[in-house]
This record gives sequence, C-alpha cells and structure tokens, in this order.
Amino acid sequence: MILLVNKDNLFNEDDLNNLEFIEYERFDEKIFYIERETLYYFEMLQAHLKIEGIEIEIDDAYRSLETQENIFLKFMKKYGIDYASSVVAMPGASEHHTGQAIDIIIKKDGRWLYENEDLLKEDKTFKKIHKVLKYFGFILRYPKGKEDIAGYPYEPWHIRYIGVEDANKIGNLTLEEYLKKEG
Ligand code: DAL
Ligand code: ZN
Repeated sequence: MILLVNKDNLFNEDDLNNLEFIEYERFDEKIFYIERETLYYFEMLQAHLKIEGIEIEIDDAYRSLETQENIFLKFMKKYGIDYASSVVAMPGASEHHTGQAIDIIIKKDGRWLYENEDLLKEDKTFKKIHKVLKYFGFILRYPKGKEDIAGYPYEPWHIRYIGVEDANKIGNLTLEEYLKKEG
C-alpha cells in the first residue's frame, strides 16, 4: 500500500510499526534512517547513475516530527512564515516521515552540491536522473507545474519510493492524482 502524506493527509505514526528502517552511513559518517526497501532500490539507482557518470548521495531521508519542526522553524526564522510554509511541510505533513522519501545531492566537478539554489541550476543532470527513477521504483514527487496538486514548488531533489510497478504506471500524474485514479 502506498502511503499518501501531504497537507490533507497527515502521517499516522502507527504506520511506523509496518515499516522497517535501516541505518545508512554516508561518506562523511552522517547517519540517516531509511525504509528498508527504499534504501535497497536507492542503492541500485545510485550504482546505475554512477555508471552513467552521475554521482548522487542522500541529503535527507526519514525525519521525525521533531526534526521536521526544527527544519520548519529554521526556515521560518531565516525567510519568514509565508516562505517557510510554501516550501517546508508542517510536522506530520511531510512524507519524509515514511522513510520512503529521499532528498538527493549531486556531485559536480568533485564537489557535493548541498544548497537548493545550486541544485536548481543542474537541470541537465536532474533530467537524466528523473528519466530513470521509475526503473528503480521512484517518482519525482514535486514536479514542475504541479504545485497546485502536489502542494509544493518544483523540487528536483525530492524522490519518493512507491515500488517499481506503480512507478512505471504513474506516468505524468502526481501521487495525489494517481491514487485517486487507482481508487
Ligand atoms: N520539502 C518537503 C515538501 C517537505 O518538507 O517534506
Ligand atoms: Zn524532501
């Protein structure tokens, strides 16, 4: 079953009992928690892209309610509440709570790009990444032009694992549209 988490469908903490989490240690020893199957397919996506000359890494995966709250507050202090709420989900409304959403970073000229504004400039690389996501069960959760439905502006870095079968069936629909159609 695909968990839909957005402003209207808050994450139910009971669902954590049905999800198995795995620890992932990044190159800089930073630890992330990720849903087991999501990590398995992410590592295959990562390996595939490496062969294509594109290096990706995890910038964020599972977030607790508290972590999401802290991110929201950080954005609010820096940019104000209007901007913060337009780009960061409120605690409970982020699909990062499922452990099946990953924010990725990419390497350019030997340097990891962490900042959103830098990543937004890497259109060509992201296009190549987005093209192969479905083969590994991932979708681009906040695509261009779907802000009204998915709830957030374009985020080339935020990918969501929904399984290979559904990722191949979803086409250009958002997860909201797809789940409505599938019933
Ligand atoms: N940036 C996405 C919408 C989140 O906070 O979950
Ligand atoms: Zn994200």
